Amino acid sequence: MPTVEIEGLIKRFGKEVAVAGIDLNIEQGEFVTLLGPSGCGKTTTLRCIAGLEHPDAGEIRIEGEPITSVEKGIFLNPEDRNLGMVFQSYAVWPHMTVFDNVAFGLKIRRAGRREIQEKTSKVLDLVGLGQVADRYATKLSGGQRQRVALARAIVYSPQVVLFDEPLSNLDAKLREQMRIELVRLQHEVGITSIYVTHDQAEALVMSDRVVVMNEGLIQQIGDPETIYARPANAFVANFIGVANLMEGTFLSRSGKLGEAQFPAGEGAPPLRLRALGAEAASAGQRVILSMRPEDITLHLTAPPEDAPNRLSGEIIDTVYQGNFLDCQVRVGPHEIGVQMDHFEQLTPGQRVHLTFEPEHALLLTE
Ligand SMILES: Nc1ncnc2c1ncn2[C@@H]1O[C@H](COP(=O)(O)OP(=O)(O)OP(=O)(O)O)[C@@H](O)[C@H]1O
Ligand SMILES: [Mg+2]
Repeated sequence: MPTVEIEGLIKRFGKEVAVAGIDLNIEQGEFVTLLGPSGCGKTTTLRCIAGLEHPDAGEIRIEGEPITSVEKGIFLNPEDRNLGMVFQSYAVWPHMTVFDNVAFGLKIRRAGRREIQEKTSKVLDLVGLGQVADRYATKLSGGQRQRVALARAIVYSPQVVLFDEPLSNLDAKLREQMRIELVRLQHEVGITSIYVTHDQAEALVMSDRVVVMNEGLIQQIGDPETIYARPANAFVANFIGVANLMEGTFLSRSGKLGEAQFPAGEGAPPLRLRALGAEAASAGQRVILSMRPEDITLHLTAPPEDAPNRLSGEIIDTVYQGNFLDCQVRVGPHEIGVQMDHFEQLTPGQRVHLTFEPEHALLLTE
């Protein structure tokens, strides 16, 4: 049985539909991320799980027990749900020591003195705060405060921990370090985690599974590799990484590859390109070709006639990014980004050729 089951979850605020019907199962010990743009309903979903919002429809179960069910009229108060929470504004109590901040959750659950002492010390060691247990919370760095918030959420061994953009107030370097620490800790403790972020890099490096959301709906659920390599639609392709998207018309299929045509500009015959995906598309259907900048090869001289997916165009501009070069190339009405790891001398207006493997590009239908 999955640890968390969400079924048909809907939440409206007046006319605004924040969550439009979500179904999601999360397994014991899994780290699942809700990823999507601002306003797509991530926080509202999390707040429904926490018992901080009453949904308009749906049921949420933890280990098979409904904690919210609109139909059955069940709604457990937040403090009666065995959940830990870490939010963006990690309000640590300034007038308390680190130890007391973390022990608080055990005190309100009426744990005994000995148990409080043991569990709090253990968790503080786990998050690397054992040395500063007696310090007042105001005397801590941003990263240390974030660790206090985390220790507080896990000290009473909740069934699930909910995180809402917990690292977004930290500077970039600390944020990257804390991502790694958080995942290490999560694996060590084995606690089931639901993590909200709008940062795709964060979601891809931290998660067992990523749930991509848009406008209150799930667009795709998958492990990071699948989400990155096989986005289910143009929204996911666009949101997850920098992808080149080209709109065209489906032609035909041969084996696992589909062929589609794309406008090449006035007077020019359309571009015919092949790629994976669009398994159910029929001739004439609108499709979107998605190809990643790092999967395109740039040639200074024309590639052989039989090379698949040949394009010709001219350089718009180039930007050095340290260990690679970003080029923008105009191909008819399209602007295509190419990422190169070797540095050619390229000048705007220069004629170049592009090729990409059909297996590295995807045709998407919506
Ligand atoms: N208390 C509220 N009253 C009215 N509308 C709300 C309320 N809370 C959220 N909304 C609306 O519901 C939608 C979803 O909001 P939510 O906070 O869940 O988005 P989010 O994905 O967490 O976004 P962000 O990345 O900006 O935090 C938004 O359009 C928001 O304006
Ligand atoms: Mg939010």
